[in-house]
Amino acid sequence: MAGQSQNWVIMVTAQTPTNIAVIKYWGKRDETLILPINDSISVTLDPSHLCTTTTVAVSPTFQQDRMWLNGKEIALSGGRFQSCLREIRKRACDVEDKKKGIKITKEDWGKLHLHIASYNNFPTAAGLASSAAGFACLAYALGKLMNVKEDESQLSVIARQGSGSACRSLFGGFVKWIMGKEEDGSDSLAVQLADEKHWDDLVIIIAVVSSRQKETSSTSGMRESVETSLLLHHRAKEIVPKRILQMEEAIKNRDFASFSRLTCTDSNQFHAVCLDTCPPIFYMNDTSHRIISIIEKWHRSEESPQVAYTFDAGPNAVLIARNRQTAALLIQRLLYYFPPTLGDLDSYIIGDKSIAKDAGINGIQDVEALPPPPEIKDKIPSQKFKGDVSYFICTRPGRGPILLSDESQALLSGENGLPK
Ligand code: DP6
Repeated sequence: MAGQSQNWVIMVTAQTPTNIAVIKYWGKRDETLILPINDSISVTLDPSHLCTTTTVAVSPTFQQDRMWLNGKEIALSGGRFQSCLREIRKRACDVEDKKKGIKITKEDWGKLHLHIASYNNFPTAAGLASSAAGFACLAYALGKLMNVKEDESQLSVIARQGSGSACRSLFGGFVKWIMGKEEDGSDSLAVQLADEKHWDDLVIIIAVVSSRQKETSSTSGMRESVETSLLLHHRAKEIVPKRILQMEEAIKNRDFASFSRLTCTDSNQFHAVCLDTCPPIFYMNDTSHRIISIIEKWHRSEESPQVAYTFDAGPNAVLIARNRQTAALLIQRLLYYFPPTLGDLDSYIIGDKSIAKDAGINGIQDVEALPPPPEIKDKIPSQKFKGDVSYFICTRPGRGPILLSDESQALLSGENGLPK
């Protein structure tokens, strides 16, 4: 390690999106390496609305590896963090900063300590795959800091060891996690199926559903399913392989009817596996079920799918509309059934607010004036469910990780490597 003084700090800041699976990952064949029992496919969400920003720094003055999440220091002792750090250090290469007169050799990386600061631009508690964006960002940022020569798919092998779904956040657009066959997990990685421009009509609305209940974590939930659900094994062996091929075709051809049918069916089957687990796991709640009914009723009256729905390990609904016009009709329906508790629409619809504007909704008075959706006309007056949705996020498919080269966006100080 050569440097003019021993006081230098080198940093890298990256931003990484989160993703939503349309063919779900549920079940591991290896708990430590995080190897799945089936392939999965996801859509990357626009990082302007949902992303993690991570700054990683190295300095000879650091005494130990340390990490801060949303400003609070957290322990790095967990096995998953340690696996990621170990794997990335193994692949580190020489780094030279001629301007600062610093040279770090491949071997030095084993002795140098790191500071890591990570920030989510959405509430961690909302259950929106923060660990996926987080571990992907960690692998990507450290890969850049340590001059790792490998591509995104190889970095996804490292992110995967932090959290399975994280490997799919190394790409934008549509991403497949290939389960792989090797025992060491070297072929269990993510590949991009199509970038975010391929199908840019799609609009995504996330209903963050109010919930008082602490859900079973994905990690322990899927372990219990592997141990007790026969349906899970049938799904992984007989159903998912065919569905993956069909989903790839649907994405390639921008075939919304197939995309929607496969997405909804796969989400419902994942939740059926949860019910088939002993003891059963309930991730969806009454509000989640209600959202499914509203969409299914709408589909039946239109005789073709308008919106795909999918739910992860929690009650939030991720709704993928075929285009902006459909998204406007969707937001009208959602606001009709789930009006805001407070009169403040600005904090009730976040993200790309222009979707609501397209639907003619500019203020609370417009929500109050919404007529019942035509598919329920002539039926018994429909109920409303104020308070059951905390807020909506309007977004779209988005790009993969990027570097933020502007130092003002770094979360650590360039002087001492501590949170700003
Ligand atoms: C329901 O990736 O959170 O969101 O690998 O144990 O960290 P670990 O689990 P995680 O599981 C995600 C499960 C899911 C479906 C999916 O994203 O494919």
